[in-house]
Amino acid sequence: MTLAPLDASKVKITTTEHPSEPKPNDQLVFGRSFTDHMLTVEWTAEKGWDVPEIKPYQNLSLDPSAFVFHYAFELFEGMKAYRTVDNKITMFRPDMNMKRMNKSAARICLPAFDSEQLITLIAKLIQQDKYLVPEGNGYSLYIRPTMIGTTVGLGVSAPDKALLYVICSPVGPYYKTGFKAVKLEATDYATRAWPGGCGDKKLGANYSPCVLPQLQAASRGYHQNLWLFGPENNITEVGTMNAFFVFKDTETGKKELVTAPLDGTILEGVTRDSILTLARERLDPAEWTISERYCSISEVAEKSKKGELLEAFGSGTAAIVSPIKEIGWKTEHINVPITAGEQTGPLTKQVAQWISQIQYGEVEHGNWSRVITDLN
Ligand code: COI
Repeated sequence: MTLAPLDASKVKITTTEHPSEPKPNDQLVFGRSFTDHMLTVEWTAEKGWDVPEIKPYQNLSLDPSAFVFHYAFELFEGMKAYRTVDNKITMFRPDMNMKRMNKSAARICLPAFDSEQLITLIAKLIQQDKYLVPEGNGYSLYIRPTMIGTTVGLGVSAPDKALLYVICSPVGPYYKTGFKAVKLEATDYATRAWPGGCGDKKLGANYSPCVLPQLQAASRGYHQNLWLFGPENNITEVGTMNAFFVFKDTETGKKELVTAPLDGTILEGVTRDSILTLARERLDPAEWTISERYCSISEVAEKSKKGELLEAFGSGTAAIVSPIKEIGWKTEHINVPITAGEQTGPLTKQVAQWISQIQYGEVEHGNWSRVITDLN
């Protein structure tokens, strides 16, 4: 028997009888409130994908022995929809998230799906709740596609049942008062990801073990961890974000934008990719080198002493870019310059602006923005 593919045209829609009022923008806290509807699709190894359903947001009912609760068969994505300046609702580079979601699924034996079919289904879900997509710069709809193994039983094996679901949360800017530069603790006693592991996949199991080191860093006055790896203490990521550094060679005057290479331990961030693409397109190659290479915490410390460390920031879907102002490393305090009177350096600010202009439809960039609905 052939297995049923994920098919958006079959979707069954049940609408809520109690549509909610949009919250005022100043009450939107990241991931705290959700839209009125959710998407669910069940999968079995026997039949493939079942009929997708858009229905009122509700609890899931699962057997307590379901694989997800015991062996962490869980993956997720983070993506956003925007209300543009010309009053359309768009999704930002959803194809990248779908590609990564399929890679995460393959790594933990959850089923593959057709990316375009899921994008169509998510678009239908957002269409349903379009009155809850917030308006204004910095405001968006955070979309959380999730897949879990739902097989009942305690034997460790590939799930033969799964549930794909999507929920959405109207969100405001990660930092309410504009940028807020963060202080990081360079962490070598705990490791986020390692060669041969699954640090490049968006699995929930990569996130929970990182909370304790974050609390430990917080107890010493830092906002986040700067994750290091290996005997060289290479910088891998920052908190839940990709990490970028800006250096300047004092002899040649040439500047370098650096982020870690995608070697299997680094999350393939959509914002990371967007920043690298825009930097390669828009920064003058006579002045800039754009590098995907490791740099160690010692290199950053040395460059800081020589006045060659210009900026540092994290990048992710939630905050887009997050400027860094200080890094604690053993007994050292590495100061990262920020522009006087601001919370960011010039390139960090520029990059954030480039991305925001594309996301809010002020500037077009190829097919990065996918129109879901035209509200005009
Ligand atoms: C992001 O920065 O986009 C993330 O992945 C954070 C998310 C886990 C809340």
